[in-house]
Amino acid sequence: MGSLNDRIGRADWKKEKHVPVIECPSEVKADTMFEIKVSVGKEIAHPNTTAHHISWIQLFFHADGEKFAIQVGEFQFSAHGEAAEGPDTGPVYTHPSIGTTMKTKKSGKLYAISLCNIHGLWESEMEIKVV
Ligand SMILES: [Fe+2]
Repeated sequence: MGSLNDRIGRADWKKEKHVPVIECPSEVKADTMFEIKVSVGKEIAHPNTTAHHISWIQLFFHADGEKFAIQVGEFQFSAHGEAAEGPDTGPVYTHPSIGTTMKTKKSGKLYAISLCNIHGLWESEMEIKVV
């Protein structure tokens, strides 16, 4: 059986187009806002069609010494060319890229998880050090 964790893909984002890419400072000042960008397909573009697309990205932060990870945000991508005329005929396609801002009192690790509607869950992580 295993757990859902066994179904989450992890790989080098430069070789695997599904892996979310976290871009933010690796060192931040305590309690000071910093910007985070997370995208899918930075090196190798992922399809964005009605049939095959990235549905969402969720971002979590696990502060050192804390028992649980905190959800920073969830970002839904809802437009993939859908239209009354049929798939891929619509005018709107959301790109799987998000920006947000946070602060932390403690160092820890950011986790990004994304969902491809066909190829499942993918995860990446990044250490954030409070200096
Ligand atoms: Fe995919």
